[in-house]
Amino acid sequence: MSLRAELEKSVAAWAVTHFPDLPAEPWVRPCADERHGHFQTHFAMVAAKAHRLNPRELAERLAKECPPPEGWEKPTVAGAGFVNYRAGPEAVGRAVDALRQDPNLGIPRVSKPESIVMDFSSPNIAKAMHVGHIRSTLLGDSLARLLRRLGHQITRVNHLGDWGTQFGKLLLAYRAAGRPPIQADHAIDQLEDFYKKGHQEAESNPAKMDQARAELAALQDGDPERLRDWRLFCESSAAHFRNIYDRLGVRFDSIRGESAYHEDLPRVVQDLLNKQIAEVSQGAVVVRNPAIAEEPYLIRKSDGAFLYATTDLAAIQYRTEELKADRIIYVTDARQQLHFRWLFDTAKRSGCRAELEHVWFGTVLGPDRKPLKSRDGTPLKLVDLLNEAKERAAVILKSKRPDLSPEDLEAKAELLGIASLKYADQLPNRNLDYVFTWEKLLAFDGNTAPYILNAYVRTRSILRKAGLTQRPQGHVKIAQPEEELLSRLLLRFGDAVELAAADRKPHHLCGYLYELAGQYHRFFEACPVLQLPALRDSRLTLVGLTGDVLKEGLGLLGISTLEEM
Ligand code: ARG
Repeated sequence: MSLRAELEKSVAAWAVTHFPDLPAEPWVRPCADERHGHFQTHFAMVAAKAHRLNPRELAERLAKECPPPEGWEKPTVAGAGFVNYRAGPEAVGRAVDALRQDPNLGIPRVSKPESIVMDFSSPNIAKAMHVGHIRSTLLGDSLARLLRRLGHQITRVNHLGDWGTQFGKLLLAYRAAGRPPIQADHAIDQLEDFYKKGHQEAESNPAKMDQARAELAALQDGDPERLRDWRLFCESSAAHFRNIYDRLGVRFDSIRGESAYHEDLPRVVQDLLNKQIAEVSQGAVVVRNPAIAEEPYLIRKSDGAFLYATTDLAAIQYRTEELKADRIIYVTDARQQLHFRWLFDTAKRSGCRAELEHVWFGTVLGPDRKPLKSRDGTPLKLVDLLNEAKERAAVILKSKRPDLSPEDLEAKAELLGIASLKYADQLPNRNLDYVFTWEKLLAFDGNTAPYILNAYVRTRSILRKAGLTQRPQGHVKIAQPEEELLSRLLLRFGDAVELAAADRKPHHLCGYLYELAGQYHRFFEACPVLQLPALRDSRLTLVGLTGDVLKEGLGLLGISTLEEM
């Protein structure tokens, strides 16, 4: 049990005995300023308010009547009615002893595991994945890892955009060019060119626009030749996506694109009409809810075409009925907030019982604070970003380790480049836009992946020096303040994981790992590990535990570690 959990237990027991009417909530939090204590509870203030008591007096009573666990100092009362607690070295040692024996490293298990569908990445066919997809892909992957680690059952779904209006324009240009073969190597470039051509033509010539619409309608009606073309587009795009997912170490349980729901759409719309949730308006079918927006939500156009929204409604049915989802989490950029508000409202009104959540994120900006673009002003392709990360990592590695073989350099540069990109992208609060800079990303001395990986590598090299491949299971003796600080930080790992998962914000975990790497550094400066026989085993245990927590924490962010740099 973590120190916080230990204290929480005794405060909660006192709270429920004396104020059984108050809801059970977490009452213990870490102190923002450790000069006041390690943890504090605001319970006295809450209870005093509810019962019109004097908060200060109630805090005094709480401090007196509710003894902290064994080995903790006497609590103190501060401010308007906080009670502050400090764990003594013995209590810290005991808690670390429990931690080192815990295969879960202090990460709790949820009491009610849910079946969760994570809908993330979901790029559109026939277009290169661009920088806009990186946050969805990485956030979705990390959230899936975090929630799974807490005990939920996760189904990772890639809801590919493989049935949208882009195919009308694409088919138009592709067929006009005589349906040439698509080369595996630059399939995406070829497809993008056709799409651009079709788009330009259709936008400048109404007759061509009609033709593009007819192409789309023919495809959606199942014309065999167009279906064959469409399949070719999908397969060649899939290879491009697969390559990126492999490099990022991201996998899916189900790649089920919009096209999979095609046949369900008429029924979905009819069902909403029957339930009088949707209505016919000027030939189109819409859902209204003035509490969301004046403009209604369009689910079938007047020409009979279905929309992104209709497909998402069908997907919710599939996921709740076939995949038995208790919860569906969608990870997309902020601009889709209105879509999801409508979608969730409509689904709920038609009886969906699963929890529906939109986890949205801001934009990646260039130095000019405009959406990050490539040098020629086109959207920055994800492959180019990955390649540049790798190249830059190689330059840095080469200067630090001129002795590396070309193969070793190549492998390490790929790992370090991708790790840096992943970390930098998850470090800012996802609800904010952030400015992307290469310098910040790869620095060895900032809040970066190289800094944290470096701390990990150091833990491993000490263990190797001591002739160990795994961490020892020694009793942890707290002899110096740096050991105490490191231990207490290690004990907070479970809370950090829980918070990142609960808030759907991996940046909480980044913050924790950065703090841990820094504290490890200070511990290492102050506490000789191998020299003092009496403390050697204890310190090696702390070193090993730090390494394991760093590795596990990075792993939850989808970042692989390396044994030496
Ligand atoms: N394909 C969409 C895009 O690239 C994202 C899809 C998100 N998932 C969903 N079920 N709507 O913007």
